[in-house]
Amino acid sequence: MTTNGAAPHGLFISFEGIDGSGKSTQARRLARTLRAQGRDVVLTREPGGSTGAEEIRALVLQGDPDRWSAETELLLFTAARRDHLERTIRPALAAGQIVLCDRFADSTRMYQGLSRGNLRTAVDVLHDLMIGQEPELTLLIDMDPGAALARAKARATIEERFEDFGQPLQDAMRAGFLALAKEFPNRIRVIDGTRGEDDVAADILAAVVPRLTNLQP
Ligand code: ADP
Ligand code: TYD
Repeated sequence: MTTNGAAPHGLFISFEGIDGSGKSTQARRLARTLRAQGRDVVLTREPGGSTGAEEIRALVLQGDPDRWSAETELLLFTAARRDHLERTIRPALAAGQIVLCDRFADSTRMYQGLSRGNLRTAVDVLHDLMIGQEPELTLLIDMDPGAALARAKARATIEERFEDFGQPLQDAMRAGFLALAKEFPNRIRVIDGTRGEDDVAADILAAVVPRLTNLQP
């Protein structure tokens, strides 16, 4: 209980955007900034963010691009998210913490709903049935897909099932994410990610600060 007797309720923020747009960099930075203010922050990511979901992450991000059908992949991402919600996100919010999540359900709406067959209806039905929760604020880092892909390719990782799809997929994703921002205008804020890290971070902080007012410092 807080001092006014209300049950604590934290703040749930997600970062979205195409691969290489700077989500992880900015999520880490925001976590540092908020922690320096003495706030209690949980920095997490999808797919992953809990023990079981991290195991599913390896299944969906490694190996041949054709390893899973679009439908099976959607079920795996949804299973990972359900575990992450149960084990990490909901307990943190119940404890009054700020949850910063690198990707959440909008990524499924885009990557599975749009790119791998036209599964958006199935994505929405599964989300309502199994997840039923949205972030209070989503920071969509928007940038030119060519530049983002060059950034993403500069990282050497074995998690390449999606990056292997290349620029046409990234183009479709960018347009799809911007359309999502129009679909959810109260939740999603579009941030120009083409600029230097400091400028992007300043815009993000300006979007987040008004949401902190109901939290304990
Ligand atoms: P994402 O999580 O969206 O895939 P990252 O945060 O991992 O993106 O960034 C991808 C790469 O681009 C990293 O090497 C990172 O250091 C670099 N990077 C991130 N933000 C910027 C920026 N504003 N300007 C230039 N490079 C950046
Ligand atoms: P991530 O590690 O965030 O990649 P990046 O740092 O390159 O942006 O996410 C890995 C990949 O998983 C990414 O290409 C998008 C994909 N993904 C989905 O296809 N569906 C989902 O629901 C999520 C959360 C991620």
